Amino acid sequence: MTAQIIDGKKVAKRIQDGIKGDVAAFTEKQGYPPGLGVILVGDDPASAMYVRMKQRRCESVGMASFSNIMPSSTAQDEVLAAVRAYNDDPHIHGILVQLPMPDHIDEETVLKEVNLDKDVDGFHPLNIGALAMKGRTPTFTPATPTGCMTLIAETGIEISGKSAVVLGRSNIVGMPMSLMLTHANATVTVCHSRTQNIAEIVKNADILIAAIGKPEFVKGDWIKSGAVVIDVGTNKIDDPTNDKGYKWVGDVDFEAAKEVAGAITIVPGGVGPLTIASLIQNTLKAAKRIVGEN
Ligand code: GUN
Repeated sequence: MTAQIIDGKKVAKRIQDGIKGDVAAFTEKQGYPPGLGVILVGDDPASAMYVRMKQRRCESVGMASFSNIMPSSTAQDEVLAAVRAYNDDPHIHGILVQLPMPDHIDEETVLKEVNLDKDVDGFHPLNIGALAMKGRTPTFTPATPTGCMTLIAETGIEISGKSAVVLGRSNIVGMPMSLMLTHANATVTVCHSRTQNIAEIVKNADILIAAIGKPEFVKGDWIKSGAVVIDVGTNKIDDPTNDKGYKWVGDVDFEAAKEVAGAITIVPGGVGPLTIASLIQNTLKAAKRIVGEN
C-alpha cells in the first residue's frame, strides 16, 4: 500500500484563501487591517527566516505585520517593554515572541507579559494551563500542533479512541500536541530522549506525530499499517547529489514509511505551511475578539 500524501501547502492555501474575505471585511469596517506584531531577539538565521515567512504570509492575506528585531544582547527589561508597547498598540491584535530567546532572558517572564487577548501563539501560561485542564477552553492554541490537528482532520480519520504517539515533549510542539490529542479523546503516549523501546511504542500508533528533530529517526518498519503519520521535523542534511549540497528531511524515513502508512505528510511542504496558516487564523480571531466582532 502507498500512503495518501497529505499536501500541507494545498491545505494552507485553502485556509488562507478562505480568510482573505474576512480580513477584507474587517479592514473595511475598522479602517485598518488585523495586525501581527513579531518580536525577535537575536540573530539566529533559522528564526529570522521563520519570522520573515510569517510576516510575508500575513501580508499576502491582507493583514499588517510589524516587527521588532532586537540584538541578542538586549536586556530582559527592554524585551518586556517591547511586549508592552505591542500590548498597547491598537493596530496590533496578535503578538508573537519568537522562541527560543537568548539564555539571559527568562522565557516565562516574557510570555506572561503578553496580553492574553493577543496571545496568538497560545504560549501564555494561562492559555497553556487551560489547554491542560479538562473542561477548559484556551483562547488560542499553539500554531504547530493546531496545524497538525488540521492535517489529521484532512485524512478523515476519527481521532476519538485511537492510539496516538507523540515523539518529543517540547513546549512548542510535543507538549501542547499531546494535550490537544487528549482533548480529542485519543489515548496518548509521549516519547522522549529517555523512553525505552520507542520502536515498539510507535508500532502501536494509529496516529504518529514526530517532533524530535532527528533526521529520519523513525524507520518504516516501526509504522503500523494504515497509520496517519505527521512529520514535524525539518532537518538539514548533507546531500552531495543535490546542487546545493544539502536537503531537508523530516524525523521519519519518508520513502520507507509511505509504503506502510495510510497517510503521511511531506517535508518540506507538510506541517510548515500549516504552522503559518494557524497563526494567521489565530491573528484574525484575536482581531475580531478585540473589536467585539464575534
Ligand atoms: N519557534 C519555533 N516555532 C515557534 C512558534 O510556533 N512560535 C514561536 N513563538 N516561536 C517558535
